[in-house]
Parts: sequence; C-alpha cells; structure tokens
Amino acid sequence: MQIAVGDRFFEPLLSKETIASRVFALAAQLRADYEGKTPVFVGVLSGSFLFLADLIKSVNMPCEIQFVKVSSYSGDHSSGQITESLAFSEELKGRHVIVVEDIVDSGHTLQYLLQKLNPLAPASVAICSLLLKPNALQYTFPELRYVGFELANDFVVGYGLDYNGLGRNLPEIYKVVAN
Ligand code: IMP
Ligand code: MG
Repeated sequence: MQIAVGDRFFEPLLSKETIASRVFALAAQLRADYEGKTPVFVGVLSGSFLFLADLIKSVNMPCEIQFVKVSSYSGDHSSGQITESLAFSEELKGRHVIVVEDIVDSGHTLQYLLQKLNPLAPASVAICSLLLKPNALQYTFPELRYVGFELANDFVVGYGLDYNGLGRNLPEIYKVVAN
C-alpha cells in the first residue's frame, strides 16, 4: 500500500520483520568480531537513531555509545555540502570504533567522517551501515564491513531515514514511487 510522506508517495520495501532479523544477524556478527573488546558505537545522527538503538539492544556485549551529527541531504538529493553540528569526542584514542550509519549513498558523508576520525588515533575503525546504494558509491571504504541491505538508487524513507524531516518514525522502509 502506498503512503504519502510530505509531497511524495512511497511504497513498502523492507518490512519490520525483515529489518529486525537482519539487525539481529549484524549484532551477532559484531559480537563475534569484537569478543573480549569494549567497542564504542558512534551513531551518525539523525538517521541512525533507530538502527543504533535496535543494534545495541541485540549486541549483548560491553560497549559504549556516542553520537556525531552531520547533514548533507536536502529533499531527496545530496547537497554535496556537509554540515557538522556535533563532532567526534576527543576520547577515542586507542578505542575500537564502530561508526553506525543509516545509509551510505555517494559516500561523501562517510569520507568526511573518516577524515575527522582517523587523526584521533582509534585502535580500529569499522563502519556498520543498515543500507548501502552500491551504484551511487564514489569511494572504496575497506572499513565498510557491516552492511544490512544493498539497494538500488531509489530514495527511501522510514526506520530513521527522512524526506525533508518527515518519515523517520515509520517502522518499515519505503521507497519513492516514480512520478
Ligand atoms: P552520502 O553522503 O551521499 O553517502 O549520503 C549519506 C547521507 O544522506 C545518509 O547518511 C542519509 O542521511 C542521507 N541519505 C542518502 N540517501 C538517502 C535516502 O535514500 N533517504 C534518506 N536519506 C538518505
Ligand atoms: Mg545519515
């Protein structure tokens, strides 16, 4: 069933159940890979807030949580201009950092974040993104080790992702209907 978000229509893409089982599997993979460590999950606001919350509830290991806030999207396209309103904490030296993203599209945001993070000298850096649009990606990120779902280049909303600020509270993920 189609739904309206702002002035656009969207159709279902990933159900609550599909998302939940993939998030559970990613959490199990992280638990195995970080056994014996206390990683710091750094959520990229605002889009990652639901994914991060569900991921860390399933991860079942000692961990810490921080946030950064950056934005680049305007409506349904990347503005190319990245604005940072909450920076990485200086206290990541020697820590195992897992950056949690909602979606990696062009990769500009991730490239920007890694340039800010690497000088802080973390022990390791991994990226965990719920969604990836491989055909839009303009970089190679060896750190992008955890990806929930690969998508075509359609604009999506829900489960944290927004269209002009709307739709973040939808429990499922929807893709835009061409018009
Ligand atoms: P990138 O810099 O092009 O990789 O875009 C990354 C950011 O743009 C993501 O963290 C999202 O916040 C936003 N974004 C990219 N694609 C979508 C989409 O399809 N729906 C909603 N937000 C998106
Ligand atoms: Mg984001």
